[in-house]
Amino acid sequence: MILVTGGAGFIGANFVLDWLAQSQEPVLNLDKLTYAGNLENLAALANDPRHVFVQGDIGDAELVAGLLAQYQPRAVLNFAAESHVDRSIQGPEDFIQTNVVGTMRLLQAVRHYWQSLAQEPQAAFRFLHVSTDEVYGSLSKTDPAFVETNKLEPNSPYSASKAASDHLVRAWHHTYGLPVLTTNCSNNYGPFHFPEKLIPLMIVNALAGKPLPVYGDGLQVRDWLYVKDHCSAIRRVLEAGRVGEIYNVGGWNEKPNIEIVHTVCALLDELRPKPDGSSYQTQISYVQDRPGHDRRYAIDASKIERELGWKPSETFDTGIRKTVQWYLAHPDWVAHVQSGAYREWVQKNYQL
Ligand code: NAD
Ligand code: TYD
Repeated sequence: MILVTGGAGFIGANFVLDWLAQSQEPVLNLDKLTYAGNLENLAALANDPRHVFVQGDIGDAELVAGLLAQYQPRAVLNFAAESHVDRSIQGPEDFIQTNVVGTMRLLQAVRHYWQSLAQEPQAAFRFLHVSTDEVYGSLSKTDPAFVETNKLEPNSPYSASKAASDHLVRAWHHTYGLPVLTTNCSNNYGPFHFPEKLIPLMIVNALAGKPLPVYGDGLQVRDWLYVKDHCSAIRRVLEAGRVGEIYNVGGWNEKPNIEIVHTVCALLDELRPKPDGSSYQTQISYVQDRPGHDRRYAIDASKIERELGWKPSETFDTGIRKTVQWYLAHPDWVAHVQSGAYREWVQKNYQL
């Protein structure tokens, strides 16, 4: 079996669902269930014996050691993290605790387990660390896209904590020989995305008749990848990635934020037109910029394509349409994640 951490979050849940749709190999899912973790994302697996869920912290060394000894996974995939830049600006502590200290403790527990394995399972074992393009820092308009050999120049508490975790993973390979793989992916979007991030927030706010808050001039650029393409990249790296290597994962799809918001509005105008005939675009509201806001991220994903033959299968047009349709079809999921804690966050971040 494989051990997935953070498998009740956005990308982790999509990964677990996709994995079990394509493989009989069971998944042990360790997730702390923070505000971002949601077992409803995994409802389709409620009676599936191939999915074992454990609520717990990657930083709980004793728990992790016990799980590794009991379930003997052939791989550990680390999705667990605090993941929202704006939250890291308001309160960096949890980011250091989970992304840095938690990753270190997980690496230690996994190292001890890996060292205890017999020769064959030891040679086959992998630790795959899921990271982000944000560790490379910010690009100017004309800079080439990030390649794996770029310096890490993180600018937010979130990206600094992820860069630290990437360094730890590297060090556990070089120092202890742990067979690690690291993926650095661009911005994901798709089903089960918590509505604190740009795309789901815009969909949910638009439908609720609320303002669509665009930070600064809205011309910051991100590369966007449909989440299921990220999942297929991770499966491919796990299967065939060279130990100790980093693989950048991206959609070859750079877009300014305002264009993303316009696209979401246009799709909603088509799929759920407003009764008064006006466009959702009228709800766009430019708000104060995020402090230290990175201007541009862009991923050069040629290494994973060249070495492992991976390419995204969705274009932005097909992926964003599926995403908007998913949110329209799942109003209950949206209502449930908009708990008291969510409302407090919105009030704090947008001074509502
Ligand atoms: P998310 O915030 O939606 O989910 C994180 C999950 O981790 C949640 O289920 C949460 O309960 C769990 N978790 C948090 N702290 C934990 C701990 N100490 N122990 C165990 N579980 C814990 O995040 P996501 O968007 O799904 O991101 C998953 C991973 O992918 C993260 O490592 C993130 O840095 C990385 N990543 C995200 C993106 C993106 O666009 N969302 C892009 C590239 C990389
Ligand atoms: P986000 O989804 O938070 O991802 P990240 O900061 O990790 O890239 O934000 C994506 C972009 O959208 C980023 O440039 C910030 C911007 N943004 C807004 O303009 N308004 C918002 O309300 C949010 C949440 C993000």
